[in-house]
Amino acid sequence: MLIFNKPLPLSLYIHLPWCVRKCPYCDFNSHEIKADLPQELYVNAICDEFIQQLPLLNNRPVKSIFFGGGTPSLFSAHSIANILDHIAAHCSLDANAEITLEANPGTIDQTNFAGFRTAGINRLSLGIQSFNDDKLKILGRIHDGENAREGIRIAKKAGFSNFNLDIMYGLPQQTLAEAMHDIESALSFAPTHFSWYQLTIEPNTLFYKQRPVLPVDDLIWDMQCAGQEKLQQLGYKQYEVSAYARADHECLHNRNYWEFGDYLGIGAGAHSKITDHDKGEVWRAQQVRHPKDYLDASKRRAIEMKNVAEKDLAFEFMLNALRLTDGVAMHLFSERTGLAASAISHLLQQARERDLLVKDEKWLCASELGKKFLNDLTGIFL
Ligand SMILES: C[S@@+](CC[C@H](N)C(=O)[O-])C[C@H]1O[C@@H](n2cnc3c(N)ncnc32)[C@H](O)[C@@H]1O
Ligand code: SF4
Repeated sequence: MLIFNKPLPLSLYIHLPWCVRKCPYCDFNSHEIKADLPQELYVNAICDEFIQQLPLLNNRPVKSIFFGGGTPSLFSAHSIANILDHIAAHCSLDANAEITLEANPGTIDQTNFAGFRTAGINRLSLGIQSFNDDKLKILGRIHDGENAREGIRIAKKAGFSNFNLDIMYGLPQQTLAEAMHDIESALSFAPTHFSWYQLTIEPNTLFYKQRPVLPVDDLIWDMQCAGQEKLQQLGYKQYEVSAYARADHECLHNRNYWEFGDYLGIGAGAHSKITDHDKGEVWRAQQVRHPKDYLDASKRRAIEMKNVAEKDLAFEFMLNALRLTDGVAMHLFSERTGLAASAISHLLQQARERDLLVKDEKWLCASELGKKFLNDLTGIFL
């Protein structure tokens, strides 16, 4: 049996799975809207699932809520308010809870950013990807560079002082100057948080079938080095592989994933990880993926929790924690996995002998070498 000395912090993820158009690089559970958005039905289903899953919270306060997608900004402020009111009425929401909503600048016409703010959203995450019109076309985006700029202005005007911008680099035929221009344009809006993702070609995407010409590895490396330097100069500290933040503005929700906290995922295809503190067990679940199935109450309610085997916990913990630039304190390992530190001491020693972990035994942190070979490092705990 696993031993947990205190309850794990808990976050709530809500998946809203529709987009105006499917981007050719995207493998998220997102579906092109074919007819009208079944907003009311979906909001009711979310509220119904939340009640069903409520016992899993075990009276813990919710530390953060994240509306992800898909394109949550396609939903009305009224729908988002209904979901948030329902949650607040049935569980205890931390007074300082971070409540984020992902938005696509191409949905600005349909969007009432001020309404989202009033509904209780206190952090916005805007999927910009690039400000370059040609690149945005290749990426199949529904907005151009000016729509992106306008979206950020509207968000700020609506009172979102805490906001993230998503930018991708290593785009088809992108030059170093173009990548730097995207970073500089994004940072000119002074976001509190910046997510900078290298474009990856994922199976089950259009780009996988019709592969675009991507920059060579050396050029991508140059982009990484120059971009990181620029971000540092402008006061954005890298705290995870793709995440940069101004002081005190790290994303609490994502940090909870990386620190192997608990999360309840609600909505089509959403994942949950829940620790039963009293029984000494860790459980995972995934909701049915297709929105049509999710709207079918019998399919949605048939969700099953699966026990995570003890032997998998150390690897899962490392897979998350070692993404953090500064790593985590060693005591977090036992707090979050319920395993004794001695269960992995031989593996830690092996990783340190290979210079993949920093030497400080009170701290679990990838060394510079470990950061370059993160898969090799985490593989030691498999
Ligand atoms: C779930 S998406 C949601 C954002 C919103 N739907 C949008 O696209 O505007 C979160 C972010 O993941 C990043 N992303 C998606 N697919 C990616 C890929 N194949 N490679 C790198 N980053 C990707 C994009 O930056 C995107 O904004
Ligand atoms: S808008 Fe976002 S979630 Fe939707 S398909 Fe494009 S990248 Fe994926």
